[in-house]
Amino acid sequence: MELCERIRTVNPSVTIEVTSRAKQMQARGIDVVGFGAGEPDFDTPAFIKDAAKAALDAGDTKYTPAKAGELKAAIAEKLKRENSLDYSPEQVLLTFGGKHALYNAFQVLLEPGEKVLIPSPYWVSYPEQVKLAGGQPVFLPAGPEKGFKITPDDILAHADGAKALVLNSPCNPTGVTYSPEELADLARAVLQTDLVVLSDEIYEKLVYGQTKFVSFAALDERLTDRTLTINGLSKTFAMTGWRLGWAAGPKEVVKAMATMASHQVTNPVSFAQAGALAAYTHQDAPAAVEAMRQEFERRGRHMHQRLEAIEGVRCVQPTGAFYCFPDVSAHYGRTFGEVEVTGSLDFARACLQTAKVALVPGVAFGADNCVRLSFATGIEQIDKGLDRLEEMLTG
Ligand SMILES: Cc1ncc(COP(=O)(O)O)c(C=O)c1O
Repeated sequence: MELCERIRTVNPSVTIEVTSRAKQMQARGIDVVGFGAGEPDFDTPAFIKDAAKAALDAGDTKYTPAKAGELKAAIAEKLKRENSLDYSPEQVLLTFGGKHALYNAFQVLLEPGEKVLIPSPYWVSYPEQVKLAGGQPVFLPAGPEKGFKITPDDILAHADGAKALVLNSPCNPTGVTYSPEELADLARAVLQTDLVVLSDEIYEKLVYGQTKFVSFAALDERLTDRTLTINGLSKTFAMTGWRLGWAAGPKEVVKAMATMASHQVTNPVSFAQAGALAAYTHQDAPAAVEAMRQEFERRGRHMHQRLEAIEGVRCVQPTGAFYCFPDVSAHYGRTFGEVEVTGSLDFARACLQTAKVALVPGVAFGADNCVRLSFATGIEQIDKGLDRLEEMLTG
């Protein structure tokens, strides 16, 4: 059967592929250290699971128009309380993960061929989702020499004829977070253009050191009409498998995305919504989130220090999310085992075969000099994996 052009240009997610290859090796009894996963290793906090179990026991197993309203109101309340954003519950759409929110956003915003500015390195799904919506990704280079950040001039130089800009701070894969001042500078540039902004704030709670998180739309009231804020429960509450995300923004955009969702998925799973409601309203939630954040901070600092100590590895300090994104290109041209390394794909293959360490090639994120290591795993695993990597590279 012939597939349409639209899907033929789209690449499968490399991050999911690497993680599943490592899991297959582990299932065969091979001791692989996994740095591939983009998800917290913590269990979902008990009070969230209890709320979902109680909902199931109470027969909360039907379509959810009423429950969805309650959760949207709780999210609007969270946005006021934590993000200084004033949205009504009707301006919130519940989705199957932040990924689904982004997908629907591109679908309702883009005309065929319209350009979307994406800082590079980027999260794997942005360009593919733009292509699936018939749009055209345009990459704004933000390599390690720029601290993995774009500047106002980058926006102004590419805004002509572009429809949207994607911002992701804290960032997957670089672990970099824009300061409030840097974001305000970007906001001033955006306000000189006609761009709409998709602000992916899924890692908002995972910031480290002196880093402060601000929502992009809160920086200037003129941004509320042209910013769509994307978020979800996956990373903040260790709920990746629950598939719950959301978007908040201008009424007409959220309404159009809801129309799409009404033909696609209706609302997210009933008892998952009950868990999400507890996540946003339960008194124990802030402490549970803070405990996970502190542990990620400890691991991130440790992984960064260890990577920097390896010859030929240079790593920008992560200030958010749970990734290190070191430049390993000094080792390209070498051969490890049977693998001659010419780029990040070979490097990742060599790591898996020789060191039994799974990491993600940077080429998947538009940066072939780098590889991504997730520190959403215990300190002992981090040490074990980095001992092996160091031995492979310098032993
Ligand atoms: C930058 C970024 N945005 C969005 C998502 C989507 O997460 P989910 O669909 O689980 O909410 C992810 C997940 O890896 C991510 O890293």
